[in-house]
Amino acid sequence: MVVEEDGAALSGGPRSSSASSGARMRPVQKSLCALMVLTASLAFLYLHVWSPKPYTTVDLRHRAEWVPEQLLNDRLLVPDKKYAHIAFRIKEEIVELLPKNSCKCQVEPSMNLPFQKQLFGHVYSLEFANAFKPSELPEINSQREQEYRSYRQRSQSPADQLLIVRANSPLEYPAQGVEVRPLQTILIPGLSLQAAERTLYRVNLTATMGTFDVAAEVEGVKVEGEGRMHLTLSASQLDNLNRQMQFVTYTNTLFHPNTADTVQFSTDEHHASFIIRIRHAPTPRLYNPGSSSGGTSGEEYNISALVTIATKTFLRYDKLRALIDSIRKFYPTVTIIIADDSLDTERVEGPHIEQYFMPFGKGWFAGRNLAISQVTTKYVLWVDDDFIFTPRTKVEKLVDVLEKTSLDLVGGAVREITGYTTTYRQQISVQPGDEDGDCLRTRQGYHHIIEGFPDCVVTDGVVNFFLARTEKVLQVGFDPRLSRVAHLEFFIDGLGILHVGSCSNVVVDHASKIKLPWLKTESEKQYAKFRYPNSSDNSLNTKQSLFYFKNRFKCMTGN
Ligand SMILES: *[C@@H]1O[C@H](CO)[C@@H](O)[C@H](O)[C@H]1NC(C)=O
Ligand SMILES: *[C@@H]1O[C@H](CO)[C@@H](O)[C@H](O)[C@H]1NC(C)=O
Ligand SMILES: *[C@@H]1O[C@H](CO)[C@@H](O)[C@H](O)[C@H]1NC(C)=O
Repeated sequence: MVVEEDGAALSGGPRSSSASSGARMRPVQKSLCALMVLTASLAFLYLHVWSPKPYTTVDLRHRAEWVPEQLLNDRLLVPDKKYAHIAFRIKEEIVELLPKNSCKCQVEPSMNLPFQKQLFGHVYSLEFANAFKPSELPEINSQREQEYRSYRQRSQSPADQLLIVRANSPLEYPAQGVEVRPLQTILIPGLSLQAAERTLYRVNLTATMGTFDVAAEVEGVKVEGEGRMHLTLSASQLDNLNRQMQFVTYTNTLFHPNTADTVQFSTDEHHASFIIRIRHAPTPRLYNPGSSSGGTSGEEYNISALVTIATKTFLRYDKLRALIDSIRKFYPTVTIIIADDSLDTERVEGPHIEQYFMPFGKGWFAGRNLAISQVTTKYVLWVDDDFIFTPRTKVEKLVDVLEKTSLDLVGGAVREITGYTTTYRQQISVQPGDEDGDCLRTRQGYHHIIEGFPDCVVTDGVVNFFLARTEKVLQVGFDPRLSRVAHLEFFIDGLGILHVGSCSNVVVDHASKIKLPWLKTESEKQYAKFRYPNSSDNSLNTKQSLFYFKNRFKCMTGN
């Protein structure tokens, strides 16, 4: 951590700056006057540079080597000496449930129910290391491990660390929730001592990234170390000491936001630690919903002010025009953004339409990314270019869900030409593995029905017809490396960021019919060639190698 500078700061600053050692080397023959001027300016420099700041540098390099988290290690099963003689019986069925570093992507044996495959899909499993040649795997693995370590070091803060409170301490202190803005000052709440009677009561506070002081001096209390990282308070009256502790302040002095200072709080034989989180207040990104955007009572939302419809097209202008016509029947002024990476481009004109051309064949996720980056409304509705709006495509209902819940994204349902309607609800989870990587698990289904919205559920992934908070989708982004068939990858990248729902009562039609190959037009044939590539094509390989390297998964099971 960043403690190298502490000693220097506490003892009044480093003595041998390069400036002063330079001064020592100057020839002594110089006139006294010049020497005095030099000394005076050096003294000024010394005071100016060193004295007001306890730190001159901040160490932002990676902290102590990250060690892989050992889940369910032997501690539980092989206790320390003190408890070694006590017999116990392991409950396998519960130990099973605890996370371990040993996930495997095995297809669970299941009961053979009739129509199981039709109802729940066929469970499959995939190993992602197969995406690489065995000869290149060691190199890939060592690069992945290096990137993963530095990611962990960047993304973890001392505020995530485990702190254990020791038994029977007379110290009272805030267990969590103390937060300071970088370089700002706060009162530390909740400090006190509840000790048995004695002649002198004393407490110490020690920090590493800031200093203590008192906002008021209480009579009968001796305060030492004001403005320093080590504060000692002592008094012969416990009440006076406790009153004084209500005035203790903490000032962050090391600018290193999104981390935390672990404060040591002690009295004679008791020690405690607590965390002061150091961070900027997250800056909100708000969208003005427009003057008559509808109230919370009536469901009269102004969709044009709240929603932008985004789509990506590739060689299917007939479908795209049909989509736009269907949207205009219901939402004549909503903005439609089109990302287009066709070869022979056609202009799609009309009011409230923005068409963005991309290099040919740039791909599916690149197009989604481009379209979504241009949205300026609070919500974005994703549609495929071969969807058709109908009276059942009530965007207001999806807006209502996002306006009234904490969800970030809510999917609707897509009705196929066959009449079959799908919401494509997916539960996604990750089980911890060892250094080979973690295990991804996807299953059709959802977690809970949403109170107040009987047609809606909470889940992790949905169909490619969804309304989302623009700002949250931008945060996850669509990985442009996924150029052909991709969808669930966005929700996997968004796991832990997006709170996802799915409503079955908002339905869009899917216009694509299954056509006999010899009846396809030339552009349909070309489309099919790119969208459904041969096995020789390496898009499946790209997907698997991204799972392996980018997400650090070794394998997956799904249905
Ligand atoms: C408190 O700090 C003082 C001065 O630094 C030190 O002498 C004393 O041992 C410390 N007491 C505890 C309990 O840490
Ligand atoms: C809805 O919002 C649009 C765009 O902000 C605006 O032009 C329009 O006047 C609004 N409609 C109503 C009925 O207020
Ligand atoms: C699919 O394979 C055929 C012949 O094997 C080839 O001509 C065609 O270019 C391939 N398509 C793609 C998208 O790679």
